[in-house]
Amino acid sequence: MKTDFYSEAKSILLNNDRGGYTVPTEGLYPFQWNWDSAFVALGFAQFDRPRAWQELHSLFSAQWENRMQPHIVFHQEDDDYFPGPSVWQTNQPGVATSGITQPPVAASIVRLLWEQDKASAMAHIERLYPKLMAWHTWFANYRDPLKNGLVLVTHPWETGRDNSPEWDSPMSAVDTSAVGEYARRDLNQVDQSMRPTTEQYDHYLAMVFYGREHNWDPEVTAKNGPFQMLDVGMSMILLRANRDLLVLAEALGKSDDVLLIKQRIELAENGLGYLWNDDVGAYCSYDLIQQQSSHCITNASFLAFYAGVGSPAQKQTLLNRLQEIRDQVAYLVPSITPEHPAYNPILYWRGPIWSVVNFMIGQGLMEQGYTELSDQVWLDTLAVSEAGNFYESFSPATGKGTGGKQFSWSAAIWLHLNAWNNTRDGQ
Ligand code: GLC
Repeated sequence: MKTDFYSEAKSILLNNDRGGYTVPTEGLYPFQWNWDSAFVALGFAQFDRPRAWQELHSLFSAQWENRMQPHIVFHQEDDDYFPGPSVWQTNQPGVATSGITQPPVAASIVRLLWEQDKASAMAHIERLYPKLMAWHTWFANYRDPLKNGLVLVTHPWETGRDNSPEWDSPMSAVDTSAVGEYARRDLNQVDQSMRPTTEQYDHYLAMVFYGREHNWDPEVTAKNGPFQMLDVGMSMILLRANRDLLVLAEALGKSDDVLLIKQRIELAENGLGYLWNDDVGAYCSYDLIQQQSSHCITNASFLAFYAGVGSPAQKQTLLNRLQEIRDQVAYLVPSITPEHPAYNPILYWRGPIWSVVNFMIGQGLMEQGYTELSDQVWLDTLAVSEAGNFYESFSPATGKGTGGKQFSWSAAIWLHLNAWNNTRDGQ
């Protein structure tokens, strides 16, 4: 059976390969996405290491002059997707891109690939390191309004958790009066019951129009934009990525950077305390405009282990939360706790399991010594990927696939975790 899933996962990546970069899935997402590509590289590394590196090089070839790494790279025209380059109007030299960023997982993936085979990775990390460092500096310069290492996001799409209930209240305050008529293309591919609502799309577009009207000036959007959220996911991921970048900086002998990265790590380790919400017993995203916590426990809250933050008491509280969730679902980790009124096991980031977040949660739990839980998270990820046919995400109640089909990151994470599982079984 295992061999079948292996071939299936591999062929998904090969079929979604557009020559040097991989689309998340045909039709629904026909371009290169930032964090998708980083995870995709992990999958390719299981059978074609040069191709894994190529995925990262093609992604970073689209870095902006101000060193932002955009969330979509529009390598070619494709009318299947909305909003495309003519809506974003980013006017950067080179290939067209969107105007916002996405979770900075790349440095962590680069470190993993390097650890797997240091000799062959050296030339690649030399090329990628300056771009990773520059992107992290962009975060420090433009996306750290409180100067405590927490990451400000200016659009829900930056978080990668597009329609999480965390954004419901801050998004509802965004003025959509100038949005006008437009035609969504995602509903041609996937049923509305598994996609964001029209109202949410109006808000997403209003935020895109704001950036466009201000020529994608990162200072203006961060200071005056209609959506200013300190995202728990991005903050945890950037802290972790800085820890991994530090290892790369040391390996490359970049002593000035080593000092700077260490300062950034310390800042964020302390800064994350700001997101701890004692009422719910978890780290939660925080709305800087309305000055309030989201009060939501999402899968991103459990990235604390991956980021390496939390007092012993906070970690224990988080473990208790995860165990409570485990009692309510068949598979871990739902994207929002089942107790939340918005929970829906098939609705995108309002319930379903996402392999990539599970991968990071499991990694963190394992590193912190909670192996029983980390094994469960990773084994559940393998199980739902298999039961759910490598769909985009999976129901925590049944394991059934939801969203887009033949999804690259689900295949990639399966390939990576399958290799882990094989070593574990001593096969
Ligand atoms: C959706 C997801 C986002 C992902 C993208 C491409 O927008 O919410 O996380 O990067 O699709 O797969």
